[in-house]
Parts: sequence; C-alpha cells; structure tokens
Amino acid sequence: MDGNGLASADTEEILTIAWLKQREPFDTAARNVAVLNSVTDYLHSIEQPQIIDLGAGTGNQTLFLLEKLTQPARFTLIEQHPTLLAAAREAMMKRFDGQCIDRHTMRVTTQHCTHTVTFAPINLLAWVADYKKATATRGSDFYLFTASALLDLLTTSEMETLSDCLSTDNTALYATLNYTGFTMSPTHPLDDAACEVFETHMTRTLDRGNPLGPQAVRYLLTHMAANTNHYRVGASQWQVTSEHAAFLHANLTFYQQALADSPTLVPWVVCRLEQLKREELMLGVMHEDLWIPPAQPVCFEDGAQSQSHLGVST
Ligand SMILES: C[S@@+](CC[C@H](N)C(=O)[O-])C[C@H]1O[C@@H](n2cnc3c(N)ncnc32)[C@H](O)[C@@H]1O
Repeated sequence: MDGNGLASADTEEILTIAWLKQREPFDTAARNVAVLNSVTDYLHSIEQPQIIDLGAGTGNQTLFLLEKLTQPARFTLIEQHPTLLAAAREAMMKRFDGQCIDRHTMRVTTQHCTHTVTFAPINLLAWVADYKKATATRGSDFYLFTASALLDLLTTSEMETLSDCLSTDNTALYATLNYTGFTMSPTHPLDDAACEVFETHMTRTLDRGNPLGPQAVRYLLTHMAANTNHYRVGASQWQVTSEHAAFLHANLTFYQQALADSPTLVPWVVCRLEQLKREELMLGVMHEDLWIPPAQPVCFEDGAQSQSHLGVST
C-alpha cells in the first residue's frame, strides 16, 4: 500500500481494463435472477438510495445497476486504481448521457432518470472504516454496498471490517460473482488437481493476509450469523464456449500462471491449449451472488416491510 492506501503493484496483480471489459457480458449473463429480483424489489421501494460500489474497477456493476433503477440514486465508486476509475467514467459518458460536475462527480441520465455518480480513488477498507465511524452523523438514508468479483479477494480481517458495517441498520449488501470453482469440458484426469492448485494460488499469502477465495460468502455469513436472518444466495455461472476464444484464452492464461510451479500439471495446460485451438473446449466458472438486506428492514412507503427471504439458497 502507498501513503493513500492505494494498492502496491509489487504484491497484487493489477487487473487490466481489457480483462474487466471482456468479462462484462459474461458477468451480466451469469447474474442469479432470484437474487437480483430480491435486490431490485427492495431498491424500488426506496427513495434516492445511496449505492456504494466497492472495488468498482471499470464500473461494470454500477453500469448494470444504472440500467435497472427507475428512481434517482447516488452512486459512489470506490477503487484503489485510479486508471480503472477513469475507464469507468469514460464508459458512463459513452453509454449514457453523462455530464461532468467536477473532477470526481458526474450526472448520468438513463432512460428512466438522472443519477449522481462520484468516483473515489481510495482503499475501500479506509472508506468502510470511516463509514462505520460516521454512523451517528450519517442520518437514516438507505445504503446499498455492492461488490462484483470482490469478496473472494478479501482476507478474513477485511471481511470482518465489511461485516461490521453491515450490522448498521440501514446498510445492505449485493455482492455478485463470488468465485466457487471451475469445470471444463471435455473432462481431463488432472482437472481436480489443477483446480486445487489454482485455488491455493488464489488464497496464497499476500502482504495483507490470505484472500478467502471460494470460502468468502460462507465466511461472511458465518461471521455475521446474528445479523443474517434474511439473506439470499444463488448460483451464477460463466458459460464460456469455443465461440468466445479470446475470453477462454484469457482464463487459461490465469490458470497457466497459477500452475507455473506445478510441473505435474504441464500436460493439463498443454492439452487445454490444444483443445482451445481445435475449438473443443468449454469452460464453466461457478460463482455465488449474495443479497443481505439491512439488519432492520427499511419500510416501504405504504408501510409494508421489504420482502426478504429467510436464509434462502437459490
Ligand atoms: C476482480 S476486480 C472487479 C472489478 C469490478 N467490480 C467488476 O466486477 O468488473 C476487483 C477490483 O477490486 C479492487 N480492489 C480490491 N481490493 C481493493 C481495496 N482494498 N480497495 C479498493 N479497491 C480494491 C481491485 O483494484 C479491482 O479493480
């Protein structure tokens, strides 16, 4: 970390703009519809929600939610790499009718309404810690923390910091694309070994600790046990066929890098690259989407409470 809490390139992989953009259609197609419906049902009952996109990258999650909302909202994109945030801003300008207010803020007009979007190039843990401290002065606005492809990168202590905030009455979480595993077709005898080594790499020790990887959602729910009477978890899966050779190749490159110190898995990598060339390879990457409504349900305008579901896995 540097003095501003921004990431150090020495210890963390910087995800490229191209990779994040390449993922967007797969992320959109993968979303768990039941989980998403719970989130949008809730959001539609709230006047001017405040939406905090944690680890926003190039803004894919905010771009998706902007299309869904029919009432004005205030979005804040928290991201440690300023170049990714600049790409998010550019994407919003292109896709919607965007108007700059200042260096960090813009107005975005969708087909439904106009939203305010703020870009915050800071470490999300610093932001989240301030959020928790400001409970008394923040007022009773509804806050949705949202995160896409982030929870599996967090360590136990980072997850606990996030979970403490979710115990704040008016704070909810919609976290999508939390990695749980991958499969390939046709199958190969070394698939399980390759998956295990990839996940060991994913959860390896970094300066800030060990990312939770596939355990992220379970860890959060267990840690929050007292506050998670109502939540929804559902499967979301990338399905990548040989039609999407570039995206398949990008994923194989990640696996190849993670397996670099495992000579016994070289035949697996070679075989998968050949299958890719012959257009025979299919990849499924499994994830979970998660919705946790506020600890105290926010009331609808008509007085009814929000619809949430008792610990449901979809
Ligand atoms: C896998 S990317 C996902 C980006 C985006 N949410 C999406 O779905 O396309 C994870 C992002 O979280 C950001 N990130 C991870 N840890 C962070 C931290 N402590 N503070 C701020 N950003 C962080 C990374 O820089 C990266 O852009």
